Amino acid sequence: MSAGCWPPARRRRSAATGRSSVPISAGEAAGESVGAPLLRVRGLEASYGKIRVLHGVDLTVHAGEVVTLLGPNGAGKSTLLRALSGLLPVQAGSVWLGDVQLSGMGPRAAVQAGLSHVIEGHRVFTAQTVRENLLLAAYDLPRAEREARVEEALSHFPEIAEKSHDKGASLSGGQQQMLAVAQGLVQRPRLLMLDEPSAGLSPVLVDRVLEVVSRLRRQGTAVLLVEQLVEKARAVSDRVYALAQGQIVLEAEAGAPDLAERLERAYFGTAAGPLHA
Ligand SMILES: Nc1ncnc2c1ncn2[C@@H]1O[C@H](COP(=O)(O)OP(=O)(O)OP(=O)(O)O)[C@@H](O)[C@H]1O
Ligand SMILES: [Mg+2]
Repeated sequence: MSAGCWPPARRRRSAATGRSSVPISAGEAAGESVGAPLLRVRGLEASYGKIRVLHGVDLTVHAGEVVTLLGPNGAGKSTLLRALSGLLPVQAGSVWLGDVQLSGMGPRAAVQAGLSHVIEGHRVFTAQTVRENLLLAAYDLPRAEREARVEEALSHFPEIAEKSHDKGASLSGGQQQMLAVAQGLVQRPRLLMLDEPSAGLSPVLVDRVLEVVSRLRRQGTAVLLVEQLVEKARAVSDRVYALAQGQIVLEAEAGAPDLAERLERAYFGTAAGPLHA
């Protein structure tokens, strides 16, 4: 089975999943059907100078799906996210978000197409308030919409909503991470990419951030999550991919019972092509 054809079209949103009253995602607003391919990456190659880091990556995220990208340090996970969001030029391959071709278009086009990328290290403007940080993330939205989008993003994080007039510097690491995720949500993305949102956080705060991922999934926003905490990430994901040395070496359902062994083989075994769980 190829990476591109899993899973078969399905509808996951039902009364049982419990819809929230928080506004719908751009994907839903656009009438995107849950389970249809949203992000399609084929043969992606990217380098730093002469050093090639991504070697023909194929990956698919379906609308409304949470997909975790696993992999050892230095595998190329952050590089892949940078290449997808246009922060890093690509040498070959294609990136489609819905019917928009993103490769070579740059970061602004990616955001406009509905791709938000929360980079690693919860970087926020420490001299600006929480609200100002969010307004900055909303800069290219129509003026009349900005306040509403800021409120919408804050609605996911009561912890920082109550500090909306405090400076970024006064927030804890976990709160800064929440602010970084909220910045990504201001654009009401069709796909939110989070690069190790749990890094440096206490277990309680990790759970809080991943709870928001689950909530986004219920609302129909697709998420591509880079995470080292395999078990916690699996619990909120539909599927996982593993990247090693710039290649996808495994694609599996998040609930696959033998995932741990498959991961170990994929990381340390011979790279004879993707393993499918
Ligand atoms: N700005 C850069 N310039 C040159 N090489 C880089 C740069 N950033 C990353 N690399 C190299 O590219 C490779 C992939 O790095 P990347 O940061 O994408 O890995 P990662 O899977 O995100 O790792 P980690 O789990 O540690 O975050 C590594 O060999 C790294 O040293
Ligand atoms: Mg990284």
